[in-house]
Amino acid sequence: MSQEIHFHARDEPATARFGQLLSQCLTPGTVVALVGTLGSGKTRLVQAVAAALGVSDEVTSPTFVLVNEYVHGRLPVYHFDTYRLRDDDEFLELGPAEYFDGNGVTFVEWADRVIDCLPRDYLRIEIEVVSETARDFAISASSDAMEPLLQKINQELAS
Ligand SMILES: Nc1ncnc2c1ncn2[C@@H]1O[C@H](COP(=O)(O)OP(=O)(O)O)[C@@H](O)[C@H]1O
Ligand SMILES: [Mg+2]
Repeated sequence: MSQEIHFHARDEPATARFGQLLSQCLTPGTVVALVGTLGSGKTRLVQAVAAALGVSDEVTSPTFVLVNEYVHGRLPVYHFDTYRLRDDDEFLELGPAEYFDGNGVTFVEWADRVIDCLPRDYLRIEIEVVSETARDFAISASSDAMEPLLQKINQELAS
């Protein structure tokens, strides 16, 4: 298993900065698996990335609609929330492969619930609640092919 990068956000503006930095590293077809408890900041991070990509629409939790698409930014943003899905089949009915292979970046909240449905190559971001305002982001790659992206994020974080 490859390296894991950690980013500590002491408050919400720091999470927003992390999202901005991430947005500079993401390319079309990148899939980001988000893992973390309810209220850890999965949706907040997607909001930050979308804002940095120039998405002007309000980014809301797709808990009820299951997938949101934001196409007005520098890159399209596809945002899944699998919290209410019963099983893999329900996720597959949403046609995730078309999003994964599309021209945008795809975020999947509660990704561990549909882990077998994810492509081979994805970025995994696990969020840990440290305190009411602090979060720890653990970023890792699912495969060797994602290592360059991980390194790029590491460099951006260090600069
Ligand atoms: N550093 C932080 N990063 C992200 N969210 C934070 C942070 N500090 C406090 N919060 C709050 O935590 C909540 C995260 O909610 P949300 O992103 O919807 O969680 P999730 O999608 O993981 O269920 C928001 O109410 C947000 O204001
Ligand atoms: Mg959410």
